[in-house]
Amino acid sequence: MSVIVTATASVNIAVIKYWGKRDEELILPLNDSISATLDTNVMCARTSVCARPDIEENEMYLNGIKTSFDNKRLQTCLNKIKAIATLQKVVDKEFLSWNVRICSENNFPTAAGLASSAAGYACLVTALAKLYKIESDISQLARLGSGSACRSVFGGFVRWHAGGKCDGSDSTASQIVQSTHWPEMRVLVLVVADKKKHTSSSIGMKRSVESSELLKYRVEHCVPRRVDEMINAIKGKDFQRFAELTMKDSNQFHAVCLDSYPPFHYLTNVSYKIIDVIHKYNEICKETRVAYTFDAGPNACLFLLEKDVPEVLSLIKYIFPSPNTDYVRGLDVPKAEEENTFETFPIQPMEENKLQYLIYTKVGDGPEIHYDG
Ligand code: DP6
Repeated sequence: MSVIVTATASVNIAVIKYWGKRDEELILPLNDSISATLDTNVMCARTSVCARPDIEENEMYLNGIKTSFDNKRLQTCLNKIKAIATLQKVVDKEFLSWNVRICSENNFPTAAGLASSAAGYACLVTALAKLYKIESDISQLARLGSGSACRSVFGGFVRWHAGGKCDGSDSTASQIVQSTHWPEMRVLVLVVADKKKHTSSSIGMKRSVESSELLKYRVEHCVPRRVDEMINAIKGKDFQRFAELTMKDSNQFHAVCLDSYPPFHYLTNVSYKIIDVIHKYNEICKETRVAYTFDAGPNACLFLLEKDVPEVLSLIKYIFPSPNTDYVRGLDVPKAEEENTFETFPIQPMEENKLQYLIYTKVGDGPEIHYDG
């Protein structure tokens, strides 16, 4: 006798960043944040949870490798969901006493530092909630695993409301628009070749909360206005406004990291090169056609409209030449109407290959349950 549920959930990329907690246990943020959930087919986590009477202790497998279950956030999610199931009396006591085997894998390399915990926890709680048949706000449960995960429980563009209550009951995500709202929107993830171990988000944000004056200013004066403007830009499909806000917010987040004491940083010379290239390109185009954003690592995530993809890809291939044949992964890239040459582009290409690969994707839907047996 066993019950297995499998779910998939996608990575989300914040355009207004979450940085700083007001409660570390409950993972409550200082400010609202906004993100886009990416296409499930290109970058997602898939998690199966299996409950059986003969599993001796809870087990966790990550990409096929057995890993310790001794992880506070993982246990919090499982215990909370079991507690809700007990209260809601939706499954019998014996079933709740069985141990679980959790198998989670990503269809993209976790080492690339690409928000894999957000997809992972969104997926895990979706599968566990289904397994234990609970009716509850999945986003609040995902938040207990990793803050940004609460946004991956919806597709399209999503807002995480910081909330103000001490118990976190109003710190939850909601959808701003569905994935179909802005069908021309595309995303290019530039995976920077980099082996450095970075300060984890949790440690970094703790240090910023303790020491950065810029973070206080950001939370009070910048984010509330930016959130309203970003929602208007998304609803009105105003790419210029969307792009400018996205870049400014990413830059402010990285400025906060430097304003923290001792400072830490995630951007490398390759990241800065990408920033310079995008601004120069937008300047030459006389309009903002591409926006960049960076999370807690050197990889860039570019937002752009489908019509501009062939030219921007040619530009990136010119600046970051690579011998890799599978340099561009993900969705099929639209064909260029004419061959672009960037010989006269004012920024020189990098001599060494500094990008591992590029992922071409779009905005996608929320989690899916695959089978339920
Ligand atoms: C820079 O959600 O990974 O990606 O809540 O401690 O698990 P924890 O942090 P996490 O932080 C993400 C930070 C960010 C910005 C964002 O996604 O909003």
